[in-house]
Amino acid sequence: MENELETYTVEADNLKIQVKIAQYSGKLPFYELVVPSISPAMQALLDDIRHSLITDVHISASEILDPTAVTMLKNKFSIRSNEIIRAKFPHVDPATRNFLVGMLLHEMMGLGKVEFLLNDGSLEEVVINSAMEPVRVYHKKYGWLITNVTLSNESQIQNYANIIARRVGRQITTLNPLLDAHLVTGDRANAVLYPIATKGNTITIRKFVRDPWTVTDFIANKTSSSDIFALIWLAIQYEMNMLISGGTASGKTSFLNVCMPFIPPNHRLISIEDTRELQLPEYLYWCPLTTREPNPEGKGEITMLDLLVNSLRMRPDRIILGEMRTKEAAEVLFEAMHTGHSVYATVHADSIDETIQRLVHPPLSISPNLLNAVNLNVVMFRDRRQGIRRTFQVGEFLTSDEGDTMKAKANILYRWKAGADTLVKHNESFRLFEELARNTGMSHSEIMKDIQQKEKILNWMVKNNLRGIERVGKIMHQYYIDPKPLLDMVSKNSSPDKLLK
Ligand SMILES: Nc1ncnc2c1ncn2[C@@H]1O[C@H](COP(=O)(O)OP(=O)(O)OP(=O)(O)O)[C@@H](O)[C@H]1O
Ligand SMILES: [Mg+2]
Repeated sequence: MENELETYTVEADNLKIQVKIAQYSGKLPFYELVVPSISPAMQALLDDIRHSLITDVHISASEILDPTAVTMLKNKFSIRSNEIIRAKFPHVDPATRNFLVGMLLHEMMGLGKVEFLLNDGSLEEVVINSAMEPVRVYHKKYGWLITNVTLSNESQIQNYANIIARRVGRQITTLNPLLDAHLVTGDRANAVLYPIATKGNTITIRKFVRDPWTVTDFIANKTSSSDIFALIWLAIQYEMNMLISGGTASGKTSFLNVCMPFIPPNHRLISIEDTRELQLPEYLYWCPLTTREPNPEGKGEITMLDLLVNSLRMRPDRIILGEMRTKEAAEVLFEAMHTGHSVYATVHADSIDETIQRLVHPPLSISPNLLNAVNLNVVMFRDRRQGIRRTFQVGEFLTSDEGDTMKAKANILYRWKAGADTLVKHNESFRLFEELARNTGMSHSEIMKDIQQKEKILNWMVKNNLRGIERVGKIMHQYYIDPKPLLDMVSKNSSPDKLLK
C-alpha cells in the first residue's frame, strides 16, 4: 500500500518537475522525481544533438573556468539546441521542446537529475554513494529519504565531481582523490573517489540554507522564548560577549545567526568560518571571511588563527568565530574580548558546566581567570527522539579565588524543563546585570524596562509573522535608527506593513 505524504514542484533552469514523497508499507519514505519518460527515439535524438552541440558551439577555456560565464554558456547551448530540435522535429510543441533543452543542459553542463535535488529548498543534504545505490537526500521534514535518482556508472559520478571541481577552479583525479569545494550558490560539495571511498565514487553536497531561520521562527517554534531573546538582544546591543554551546547539529550556528541582527548597524562586524554558513541582513556592516585548506602541494592554507589575527587589524567592533576549536584561536579570541571587542563563538559542549570544562582543559586550556570575559553562555540541545531543538540553558560563568587557584563555575539563569517543554527562570544573575548596568549606565529597573520593551517588540513580530532575514533586519534597523514609529506600532498593535515598504 502506498501512502502519499506530499507532492510539490521544483524548478531548475526554467525546468519544472514534480516531486512525490510517499511511503510504501513496511518501507522507508521514498523521494520520487517524476520525470516524464523519454522514448528511445527521442533519446537517440538527444544524444545526436549533444554531439552536434559540442562541435557547433565554440567554448573558450575561460568560459568553463569562470562560474559567471556559465550562465552565458547555458544560453548559447539552449538557443542552439532549440534550433536543432525545431529543425529536426517541427511537430514537437514548445513546452516539450523546452523540457528537452533543459534536460540536455543539465546533462551536458550540470549534474543531470541531481540538479533538481539541488534546487529543492526542502533538502539539506544530497548524497551520491556509488553508482550501485540510489542517491539519498536529507529532507527538512522527513529526514533521510531514498530517491529514484541513480547514476549510470562510476565514471558519471567522477565526471560530476569534475564538473564541481572545475566550477571552483580545482581538479579531482585518482592521484588527488579528495575535493572539498564551496560552490557559487553557497552549497558545499565534498567528493571522494574510489578506491579511497571503497564502495565507489561519492559526492556529498550540503546545501546552503536559502531561507535562514530568524528570531521570529525560533520563538514561534519554541526553540527559545521571547524573554530570553530580549535579554540576549540587550546584551548584544551593549557589546557583551556570548558563547553558544551545544552538541553536533544541535543548532548552535543557527542560533548564533538568529541573534546577529541584534547588532546595531554602525558596528563593524567580522566573521570567521570554515564554511560560509552565516547569513546576515544587508543593513549590517559585515565582512565575512572563510578559511582555506592547503592545495595538493601543501601551500596556501589560511587558518582560523590567521584570520583571527588579521581581523584584529581590520578595526572590528564585533568578531564572530564559527567554532572555537584550537588553543591558539581560543587564546586570540579571549585576548580580543579583553581588549574591548565584542565576541561571539560556538563551542562543542552540552551544558554550561561542560562548556567551562571544555574551555579550561586541553586542547583549549584557557586560564579560568580569563573566563570572566564571557558574559553569556547559551546552550543548545537536540532531542533526537522528538526531533526538536531547544535552548537548554542560559547562564553566566562565575569565577572565584580558591587559595592560589582560580575556579570557574556555572550560574544558570534559565533552563529548559523537559516535561512541560518550556524555559523557566532558574537563578538570579550575579554578573550579567551588574555588567549591563556598568556598560549602559542604566539602573536595574531601567534595564528590566528595556528588556520588557524588547520582549514586546519580539512578540509583536511573531504575532505579525514577520519573518525572513531582510524583513527582520529592517525592523532592527528601524529600532536603532529611529525607534519611535516602531514602538508606536507595537504599542498600538498595528501591522508592520508601513515599515517594511
Ligand atoms: N531551532 C531549530 N529548529 C529547527 N531546526 C533547526 C533549529 N536550529 C537548527 N536547525 C536545523 O538543524 C540543522 C543543524 O543546525 P546548525 O548547523 O545550526 O547546528 P550546529 O550545532 O551548528 O551543527 P554543527 O555541529 O555541524 O556545527 C540545520 O539543518 C538547521 O536548519
Ligand atoms: Mg555549526
